[in-house]
Amino acid sequence: MPQLIAGNWKMHCLAEQAVALAQGIAAGAHGLAAELLVCPTALHVAAVARALHGSAVAVGGQDCHQSRQGAHTGDIAAPMLRDAGAGWVILGHSERRQNHGETDELVREKTLAAVEAGLIPIVCVGETGDQRAGGQETEVVGWQIAGSLPKPFAGVIAYEPVWAIGTGKTATEEDVATMHAFIREELQRQFGNAGQTVRILYGGSVKAANAASLLAIPNVGGALVGGASLDPTEFLTIARAAQAG
Ligand code: 13P
Repeated sequence: MPQLIAGNWKMHCLAEQAVALAQGIAAGAHGLAAELLVCPTALHVAAVARALHGSAVAVGGQDCHQSRQGAHTGDIAAPMLRDAGAGWVILGHSERRQNHGETDELVREKTLAAVEAGLIPIVCVGETGDQRAGGQETEVVGWQIAGSLPKPFAGVIAYEPVWAIGTGKTATEEDVATMHAFIREELQRQFGNAGQTVRILYGGSVKAANAASLLAIPNVGGALVGGASLDPTEFLTIARAAQAG
């Protein structure tokens, strides 16, 4: 399976900038070994999907509600994202877990809603700096996987150590290798054979300068890129470092 290079644009870009960024990425995306995805704010999913129509770049959301529809002011349902042109959705990002109190149980419900709507979920897990300092990183990630993923699970995992997000600090290659091997084992333990092929992305200060070494680590199925995904040249350089699998 090709590596997946996904851009999480978070709460960046006005509409015109989002479309320009998408066009800049699409212009350099043909013939790459990697699968490419961009996740703008939900408000821009439709415009970005239109801009990317016919290109090699897919579109995703950054969150969805666990219900198909209903009285949930300000929320966005998975079928709405699908309707707007999204094929993917990031769920359980640490910024949602921290800023919006999302629990593993809620992330699991959202994942089910996403799959039901025809979206491929990218479920994020990862320990905080304090948890790593306390030697609890594998325990925390093991619980997050057990609690956040429905069975069966048809999606992608993103391992994003919270202390590496937006900090310029990347996990060492050894840390990434250890954690991705652990996640693979957990997936196989919990899902049997199906756990062997689930892609496990790394996220946390991925940039052009470190992409090749991170993407060469066993069990790394791609990257979830924040800040560096806002620059087409940087994002495409990361994508060129990816492998066809
Ligand atoms: P940065 O690449 O900016 O560290 O963000 C990572 C991230 O949170 C992607 O979801």
